[in-house]
Amino acid sequence: MNFPRTRMRRLRKSPEIRNIIQETKLSKEDLIQPIFVKEELKKGQKEPIKTMPDEYRYSIDDSVIFAKELEKKGLKSTIIFGMPKGSKKDGIGSSAYDKEGVVQKTIKKLKKETNLVVISDVCLCQYTNHGHCGIVDENKILNDETLNYLSKVAISHAEAGADIIAPSDMMDGRILAIRENLDKNGFEDVLIMSYSAKYASSFYHPFRDAVSSSPSFGDRKTYQMDPSNAREAIREAELDLFEGADILMVKPALVYLDIIKSLKDNFNLPIATYNVSGEYSMLKAGIEKGYLTENAIMETLISIKRAGADLILSHFTKDILENL
Ligand code: PBG
Ligand code: ZN
Repeated sequence: MNFPRTRMRRLRKSPEIRNIIQETKLSKEDLIQPIFVKEELKKGQKEPIKTMPDEYRYSIDDSVIFAKELEKKGLKSTIIFGMPKGSKKDGIGSSAYDKEGVVQKTIKKLKKETNLVVISDVCLCQYTNHGHCGIVDENKILNDETLNYLSKVAISHAEAGADIIAPSDMMDGRILAIRENLDKNGFEDVLIMSYSAKYASSFYHPFRDAVSSSPSFGDRKTYQMDPSNAREAIREAELDLFEGADILMVKPALVYLDIIKSLKDNFNLPIATYNVSGEYSMLKAGIEKGYLTENAIMETLISIKRAGADLILSHFTKDILENL
């Protein structure tokens, strides 16, 4: 049927009509707030992050206070990123699997004092003195050698009470290694959310600045994906599925909406995506400068959900929870 019998504008005529026919709705359950915890900080201390307006590095105590405030506003889940004392960084990232490490302590406290689903980022880059996500030998990032260390990190997080382990290193075979080691240690109920399609992206820049995890030599292109490749993302996701992942992730989100859609169409696992630091900071900067209005935030998050994301890790969570 054509115009004039069909009029698309009828569906848009009032806020009430628009509301009931809305195809995509964002809800509090969709969102995961990342929290940065810095071991060096004492209770009552938080540091603004220069490259990320309105985000802070918190002490362990203050990270829990922050999480509780958000929980009151309806937050359901958080992902924890740790920063060990600088002096603890070494070649193998041993402070990443320290039972008394900054992330382990934070997870324990969060599980004791909140009802949040606690996710832990598993990687070595914040904990190694070379800043790479794996073990290094003569400027090469060793794959198989790294798996053992990642498994140790995952077990230490599970022991602390993490509900979901999220490996972000992009080594081959890590999901299998972590799954086997979790199971061997009695953690068969701990979920794995795999950073399956993690691209070598310049949109991580503010994050690396925030947690001092830039590689001291080279780049991450031998393990993170080439932004040009879409079909390769399907292979990565397939492998993670076979290795035992419970949730697949695409990272970053915005410039990879096509990848989110493709994983959603190809797999029946929940699809998560990470609306990363650079995607956050560029909008924040635009809003601060007056080039954009706050509405750009919701439009952005809706675009990510519309593309197929079931879960969105986003630094905007804290800003918009109350509006949902
Ligand atoms: C490190 C890691 C990164 C992010 C999460 N874990 C960056 C990187 O690979 O250098 C990015 C998060 C963000 O930008 O918000 N494994
Ligand atoms: Zn890393």
